[in-house]
Amino acid sequence: MSVEKQGKSPEIRELIQSHRSIRKFKNKDISWEIIEDLVESARWAPSSHNVQAYSIIAIQDQETKNKLSELCGNQVYIARCPVFFVFAADFYRHSLVSMKHGTPFEMEETENLIVGAVDTALAAQNFLLTARSYGLGGVMIGGIRNEAEKVAELLDFPKWTVPIMGMCLGYPDQHPWQKPRMVKEAVLHKERYQKDKLEDQMQSYEEITEEYYTNRTNGVKTSGWGKQMSVYLSTPRRPELTSFIKKQGFTLK
Ligand SMILES: Cc1cc2nc3c(=O)[nH]c(=O)nc-3n(C[C@H](O)[C@H](O)[C@H](O)COP(=O)(O)O)c2cc1C
Repeated sequence: MSVEKQGKSPEIRELIQSHRSIRKFKNKDISWEIIEDLVESARWAPSSHNVQAYSIIAIQDQETKNKLSELCGNQVYIARCPVFFVFAADFYRHSLVSMKHGTPFEMEETENLIVGAVDTALAAQNFLLTARSYGLGGVMIGGIRNEAEKVAELLDFPKWTVPIMGMCLGYPDQHPWQKPRMVKEAVLHKERYQKDKLEDQMQSYEEITEEYYTNRTNGVKTSGWGKQMSVYLSTPRRPELTSFIKKQGFTLK
């Protein structure tokens, strides 16, 4: 039976499954009413224990976008998108209620950082999908953690807040190819984690992605996903982030 007949809405499925990151935007503003509606969708994301441990900062000021573009590793689309959003894990509000009620504020474990990061990501994805329904497009920006401390200073972040991701948003001025994803069999396991066929499944993904990159870049980039990941993961990622996170109050005991 087709998924439509099983009750799936084709619109939302099509929206999700036609995803591609957008990095080039038309010179057209996004209305504040739309932005508020995107935040409305973010607010309705599920949240661990309903902690709602995230905040969203909307940045339209050109000078601030320019600075953030630099801080994120000179990603020019941050300066060029009409609105740049910073999504932060945020327990500052919780610190206020704990103080008000005179209860200990227990932030030493890794758990709450994970809770905040997950809540933030769920809110961000709801936000982006709703943006797509308005004909907008965007790209999430992990580069916001390159210089997390400077970003926090620039945006007046209080303690208990950590930038998790940024998001460039605007009306798309490009329609890039869809980037192939890991084959389904390698991510869906029945009943138990199944390692046996992983190497073969990943080899087929390697061939799919080698072909994709070779075609997309006219042969400039030929390596597949596995080779790219092995390079990506061969050096430490943002090692200074840990000390900033600790400074923000998450001691990661
Ligand atoms: C949390 C997160 C952080 C990302 N950070 C960046 C970034 O800093 N710069 C960038 O150009 N793309 C960034 N991306 C986009 C990914 O590179 C992109 O989603 C991935 O390559 C798959 O491509 P697609 O989104 O077009 O399908 C990020 C995506 C996510 C989910």
